[in-house]
Amino acid sequence: MACTIAIDGPAAAGKGTISKAVAAHFGFAHLDTGLLYRAVGRRVLDGVPPVEAARALRAEDLAADDLRTQEVAQAASEVAVIPEVRAALVDFQRAFARRSGGAVLDGRDIGTIICPEAEVKLFVTASAEVRAQRRFAELTEKGTETDYATVLADVRDRDARDMGRADAPLKPAADAVQIDTSELSIDEAVAEAIAVVNSAK
Ligand code: CDP
Repeated sequence: MACTIAIDGPAAAGKGTISKAVAAHFGFAHLDTGLLYRAVGRRVLDGVPPVEAARALRAEDLAADDLRTQEVAQAASEVAVIPEVRAALVDFQRAFARRSGGAVLDGRDIGTIICPEAEVKLFVTASAEVRAQRRFAELTEKGTETDYATVLADVRDRDARDMGRADAPLKPAADAVQIDTSELSIDEAVAEAIAVVNSAK
């Protein structure tokens, strides 16, 4: 039986780490849907119109090595407000969610729009300050020159755009279990997510 786990939440709340660990634990496939929007944002920065970029997206575009920059993240959240861009990415995500053997999808609208029938829904949050601190550490680790204030402003800016858009705004599904990772270690957050999945089975 296919089992879909939907993991949503704001920027740098820990969705990616939790999703990968949950997928590995249960032997499920994992799709980071943010990468789809980042890949479209990347093409837009190269001058391609957003809707055209979304419709022409290819699997290999998701492997580009510069999708994790702040510039691409901002571009991603700007294209993500365009309904035609979101519509162009729906089929791919739903097909992935239904694959046999189980799937974990993480993003902003997985539990609400992409997979409202998901067996398990998690909404992973943390305070904006904690999230900015984590993203700052990640970027610094990769050698990106930035400062905490810039990263915090970027996180707040994307939160506002992601929550305020008319089409598929970021919000927890009514039946999502919320996990606040502000004061949890990675291991504690992963253990909590696995416990939620086990209790839903
Ligand atoms: O890794 P981080 O949480 O910073 O961002 P991401 O998950 O890679 O998503 C980048 C941007 O894509 C978000 O700020 C959203 O605007 C958009 N996005 C979306 O609208 N819907 C999704 N399912 C996933 C991402």
